[in-house]
Amino acid sequence: MLPVQHAANIVSLGEGMTPLLPLKRLGEEIGIADLWMKDEGIIPTGTFKARGATVGVSRAKELGIETIAMPTNGNAGAAWAVYAARAGMKAVIVMPVDAPKITRNECSISGVQLYLVDGLISDAGKIVGRAVEQYGWFDASTLKEPYRLEGKKTMGYEILEQFNWEIPDVILYPTGGGVGLIGIYKALRELQALGWIGEKLPRLVSVQASGCAPIVRAWEARQKSSEFWEHASTVAFGITVPKALGDFLVLEAVYETDGCAIAIDDDELLREQGAAARAEGTFMCPEGAATVAAARKLRESGWIRSGERVVLLNTGAGIKYPDTGMHEGDILILQPGDSLDLPHAP
Ligand SMILES: Cc1ncc(COP(=O)(O)O)c(C=O)c1O
Repeated sequence: MLPVQHAANIVSLGEGMTPLLPLKRLGEEIGIADLWMKDEGIIPTGTFKARGATVGVSRAKELGIETIAMPTNGNAGAAWAVYAARAGMKAVIVMPVDAPKITRNECSISGVQLYLVDGLISDAGKIVGRAVEQYGWFDASTLKEPYRLEGKKTMGYEILEQFNWEIPDVILYPTGGGVGLIGIYKALRELQALGWIGEKLPRLVSVQASGCAPIVRAWEARQKSSEFWEHASTVAFGITVPKALGDFLVLEAVYETDGCAIAIDDDELLREQGAAARAEGTFMCPEGAATVAAARKLRESGWIRSGERVVLLNTGAGIKYPDTGMHEGDILILQPGDSLDLPHAP
């Protein structure tokens, strides 16, 4: 099911088979009793990007590639950096200067050549495009090589296996380049072709941030591809992609499954990040938290019906975004020897 031909070429750090957690308390509050979260926050590098990196780097190694280059919003670059190091391969990574700081460190400590661009991932992509022409490096940009997608489709296999091959009704996915969503859709179609599942497919929901929602705009206009989103900006940095190369594939997956696309404001997704953490102990990444807000809205509008089984993709760990989650007002500073004054003690 995956492209690597010889086991000796597999470059692994122990990724895969992440937990599928029931969110009972949060689900009750939202009105979705059968609510689940696929938690990608606990794999190497703390995001689902490790899935694309393990397959992409393994296959690149198998093909004898020595240097890979890629633009990234941070998390993918971090994942490819550590897997490249593990493979003994060189990597050149270009990311926006505003990408999560920790992803810089992950690249830096892995010994890759890191560049920061004072712009967006689309600007980084153009720089990488010119460099691969000039130096002949392997272009690992989203959907410019076919193997990263293969790694990401394993999320689809796992969700179904974890539900014992019963099909959930809805899967919500925070969409930037959309590779995860395209991958889940590919997995579903493969499982159908194998005869492991029947006709029914989950309705796939593309969740974006209001500050960068080209897929949502295209879906609302029933278009097959999206327009470049000017002045893209959101705290959910991983989904700041003004124009995805595979936008038409994301839209096809949404249309073919009777899904939908929905945009979430930054303050809403940050609020839901806190609500989920308090209800369930999950410190989701902002991108993942956007799916909580989307589920709530779609339940309120009736698009998600009572009794439906709903899966949220938490694509990464909240701890990769240390600027989120903190409410200064919650902290009281004590001096040594102080006692805890009621009413603050629980
Ligand atoms: C945490 C996180 N979630 C979601 C995404 C979006 O990924 P995709 O390209 O599959 O849409 C990214 C991409 O950087 C990310 O880092």
